[in-house]
Amino acid sequence: MFTFAPTHGQPKAELLADLVESARALIDGEPDGIANMANVAALIWQFLPDLNWAGFYRMVDDELVLGPFIGKPACIRIALGKGVCGTAAASGQTQLVPDVHAFPGHIACDAESRSELVVPVIRDGAVIAVIDLDSPSPARFDDEDARGIEALARAVANRI
Ligand code: SME
Repeated sequence: MFTFAPTHGQPKAELLADLVESARALIDGEPDGIANMANVAALIWQFLPDLNWAGFYRMVDDELVLGPFIGKPACIRIALGKGVCGTAAASGQTQLVPDVHAFPGHIACDAESRSELVVPVIRDGAVIAVIDLDSPSPARFDDEDARGIEALARAVANRI
């Protein structure tokens, strides 16, 4: 059993830093990428409030394929450049979307999603996956969340 848990009411910067450190500890020494993505998705869900989907899409043969996640069943394959995830994967840039309805080509996997944060996971200069967070609240994510999840992506890049 693992006992990583957020402290109630802690400042967001601390919460995000704790999330990253917990992820490092959880995946340290474990070579199985699927197990690590599953545990990191669960950790994100446990640490971050107000989410309706959290997980990974993996780059497989130049398209994104659904990986371990928490939330409703989601679209399985996303072409590069399509939707928020495909845009993050194609550009290698974090996508912070305060209003998913205003994002051209957004792919609605869960009709409840209102805002989204997608961060590429980069290894040896290549995008190998993205971390996707959805929220039912508009503008749920800000730059601090983006920097925090980018730190998480760097922490997991060699373990997924
Ligand atoms: N909304 C994403 C698709 C994935 S789901 O949110 C889980 C997109 O536009 O790429």
